[in-house]
Amino acid sequence: MIFVQSKEELDDILKKIRKNSNIISLVPTMGNLHAGHLSLIKIAKKNSTKVVTSIFINPLQFGKNEDYNDYPRTIESDKRKLEKLGCDILFYPKSNEEIFPKKQKIKLISSGDVGKILCGRKRPGHFDGVLTVVYKLFSIIKPNLAVFGAKDYQQQFLIRKMSINLFPDLKIITGKIIRDRLGLALSSRNNYLSYKEKQIAPFFFKSLQSGYELYKTGKNFPYIIEKVKNLLISEGFDVDYLEIRNTELKLTNFQNRDLKNILLGSVKLGETRLIDNIEFN
Ligand code: PAF
Repeated sequence: MIFVQSKEELDDILKKIRKNSNIISLVPTMGNLHAGHLSLIKIAKKNSTKVVTSIFINPLQFGKNEDYNDYPRTIESDKRKLEKLGCDILFYPKSNEEIFPKKQKIKLISSGDVGKILCGRKRPGHFDGVLTVVYKLFSIIKPNLAVFGAKDYQQQFLIRKMSINLFPDLKIITGKIIRDRLGLALSSRNNYLSYKEKQIAPFFFKSLQSGYELYKTGKNFPYIIEKVKNLLISEGFDVDYLEIRNTELKLTNFQNRDLKNILLGSVKLGETRLIDNIEFN
């Protein structure tokens, strides 16, 4: 695996690779790689001939009181995992300046109204930060395809929308949510959970599954939300939001079953924020 830390060096390598008509895929990450990320890299490998993984903890997507400084930085073990999987290139910018040069004013990409709902409500500016860094990575690497996880449903939705306009030839693939054996969606932030919180955390997904069961029996959306919320509260979660939207993230009539719907939630367990979702098929 080629380990690159500068944009210029990466550009030279990619130029050579492109000459041999390779299909280049990109898996953008913030590192601390777990089986969820690795599943995205496997998808990238299947659909391309050269896989680039980026590891960059993007300061723009963290709020003032969020965990930018504490975010787990585990580059050596990440490198080993990528090597083992057969990733071709790891782009690990040597500093934030490599992506956001001090001399250039950062041109933020707006996530619009969809960036202000769900996770965006409590995290103002978060999705603008995500889109801005993804835009930068796409512009630097110019991949043919890029892979994102479905746990961050709103993120992948916004990236798809941005790409349709700004990178029309780029294919976006969304990999399914990877869970531990108890159902908890894998996330680097699960590392923050205490032993006791780890016992409670799997009930997040179990509660979403109960919502799906209610949906299948024909219950209306407000009823389902109320029930799932109460379940979560009784297990000790602090519910930030819980909403049923269609896959375009529009609030639908609470009886509407024509479009595919999705139950999305964000909860807090102690100081740790968890997100998850379940599609109603
Ligand atoms: O999902 C993530 O890890 C990040 O939001 C991403 C897409 C790498 C952008 O920093």
